[in-house]
Amino acid sequence: MLAVTVPVRLRFGAHLLGIHKPLTLIPTSSSSTRCFFLFPSPPTRNVSLSQTPRDLLRRNVSQTPAPAASDSVSVSVSFPKDSPLFGLEDLLVSFILGKKRATEVSHLVWKHVVQKGDTVIDATCGNGHDTLAMLKMVADESGKGSVYGLDIQEAALQKTSSLLEESVTPNEKGLVKLFSKCHSKMHEVLPRNTSVRLVAFNLGYLPGGDKSLTTQSDTTLKALEAAKGILMDGGLISLVVYVGHPGGWEELKTVQDFISKLPVEMWICSEFQTVNRSWSPVLVFIFKRC
Ligand SMILES: C[S@@+](CC[C@H](N)C(=O)[O-])C[C@H]1O[C@@H](n2cnc3c(N)ncnc32)[C@H](O)[C@@H]1O
Repeated sequence: MLAVTVPVRLRFGAHLLGIHKPLTLIPTSSSSTRCFFLFPSPPTRNVSLSQTPRDLLRRNVSQTPAPAASDSVSVSVSFPKDSPLFGLEDLLVSFILGKKRATEVSHLVWKHVVQKGDTVIDATCGNGHDTLAMLKMVADESGKGSVYGLDIQEAALQKTSSLLEESVTPNEKGLVKLFSKCHSKMHEVLPRNTSVRLVAFNLGYLPGGDKSLTTQSDTTLKALEAAKGILMDGGLISLVVYVGHPGGWEELKTVQDFISKLPVEMWICSEFQTVNRSWSPVLVFIFKRC
């Protein structure tokens, strides 16, 4: 369903998801496809608990006529095995159906890209939740794997350090290096010639901290350029962009301008947002092809 490229408006019968109201997918006529899913919430009919989102998508909508509402529902929309999104179908559907938060989605996408022993960067440590998630993904028994964390606020680095202290072993914590530095200078904290699998940004202000201290468009742009320069093939730049604070929309526009200029032969850029929830964060993934 997400791979549809025809420049027409498609309407799928809602019975695909066990509901009566229509689910609409609207690709635009531009070279990349933009999908909008309109999902009535709460559903007017219960979806069987034995049906996972993957079960619900097992029928190939482009080839099989829609069943009558009473038919059993099965739709197949799997990504190709070589796609970076392979195996994430359930996750995307969970997000579309309002069952997953943006940060949960980003962590699950990271898990599909990051391997034990990798070097990764948390460009905005904040309270340390992303740093901790990354550490769990890269730490292996041989002591390989590194997480480089940056933040401009000492308070954030202290929170991150405390969270790690209470959550991981001293050996694991030793794999994390924290820097009080602007993320536009992330390349300066890495050992020479280090390639990075993941650079993650969670933009905005420190939750529970000073709301006037936010990430800024100009340094975010420089940081994206820096991340692009150190990312390995098959690596990912991940952003959660919050738009509910002053400068948030401008920052999103900066990110969108940046990704729209990346050549598709080398980069796959995707954006996800729940558009009818006020200030809903925008998820951006910038995947460097292998
Ligand atoms: C939304 S919070 C990050 C949340 C965090 N990732 C977590 O898991 O809790 C954004 C953080 O970005 C930091 N920040 C703002 N500008 C920055 C910059 N130029 N370089 C690095 N960090 C920055 C803020 O101090 C704040 O702690």
